[in-house]
Amino acid sequence: MFNDDTDFENRIVAPDYISGEDDLENPLRPKNFDDYIGQDKVKENLKIFIEAAKGRGESLDHVLLYGPPGLGKTTLAGIIAHQMDVNIRITSGPAIERPGDLAALLTNLNPGDILFIDEIHRLSRSVEEILYPAMEDFAIDIITGKGQMAASYHLPLPKFTLIGATTRAGQVSAPLRDRFGVVMRLELYTPEELCSIVQRSAGILGIDAQYEGAIEVAARSRGTPRIANRLLRRVRDFAQVMSQGTITYDIARLALDRLEIDELGLDKIDRLMLETMIKFYRGGPVGLETLAAAIGEEAITIEDVYEPYLLQIGFIARTPRGRVVTPAGYLHLGLTPPAAAPAQTTFFDDEENK
Ligand code: ADE
Repeated sequence: MFNDDTDFENRIVAPDYISGEDDLENPLRPKNFDDYIGQDKVKENLKIFIEAAKGRGESLDHVLLYGPPGLGKTTLAGIIAHQMDVNIRITSGPAIERPGDLAALLTNLNPGDILFIDEIHRLSRSVEEILYPAMEDFAIDIITGKGQMAASYHLPLPKFTLIGATTRAGQVSAPLRDRFGVVMRLELYTPEELCSIVQRSAGILGIDAQYEGAIEVAARSRGTPRIANRLLRRVRDFAQVMSQGTITYDIARLALDRLEIDELGLDKIDRLMLETMIKFYRGGPVGLETLAAAIGEEAITIEDVYEPYLLQIGFIARTPRGRVVTPAGYLHLGLTPPAAAPAQTTFFDDEENK
């Protein structure tokens, strides 16, 4: 169903991390609020909370950031640490395997420090249970040994700030969610905001990008800065080799077409998914697991990575019986949507509806 050059692993429009590009030292990562473009509401509120906490000489309340991948949750955490003038320790839910791992992280923090846990919805239950008293009472209870040798220690912790990040707010357990004083949702960026990000990144990397070139990169970046910055680097390669190094509108189009990323940022895999739904399942409804098997992907990857943008631009819809391709999705592939089923007359229909 998909050919050999369909490369799921190295998908250029994947919003997830590629090792190295998302280190805190990444020069493209803004270090303060003034350089951080977009997410205005989140930014303005955070500034108030930070100023208030600093004014009281306290640590910042725990913060939960959620939203699709690649929007700058880690970046924001770094900016918060910078503004609060504290250290940040970065880890992730799956990396904290045992309660002892979390205890080691927590006991090494200084007062006011930030512990950033990415993918916090993936913490194990036993680790989560240590986190509750740590967040609430700034203390942990550790049990060592077994049977008669068992002993329990009550360990006070410095007043730290936990910043949790997740792409799946619905999967954060209620007791954990309730312990965050601040819960904020990040939104996909507008093409104009992404264009500003591309222009800023181009400036930092010493790339000459015309406005029309930058907006073309921005428009195909699925509302996601991480993708925009990745595409910028690839388009620069084309500009360097095929013209004088300047990213013009024409070069951006040529490069993105060569990378098989269309005007809306869809790549081969997105199109494969839509085509599979149309060809083999008559446009749906098709269940997530069935679709996953048909295109050779994991259901969770479809849900987290491919689907959000296709849903956002209205090319697929979720129904109780599965996913369907919308008329807009058909039209984008140059196909004719099936004729709509005739509207059903209901018991309540009156003369006006005839
Ligand atoms: N790089 C990644 N996210 C960014 C943002 N919101 N503003 C500026 N540069 C960014």
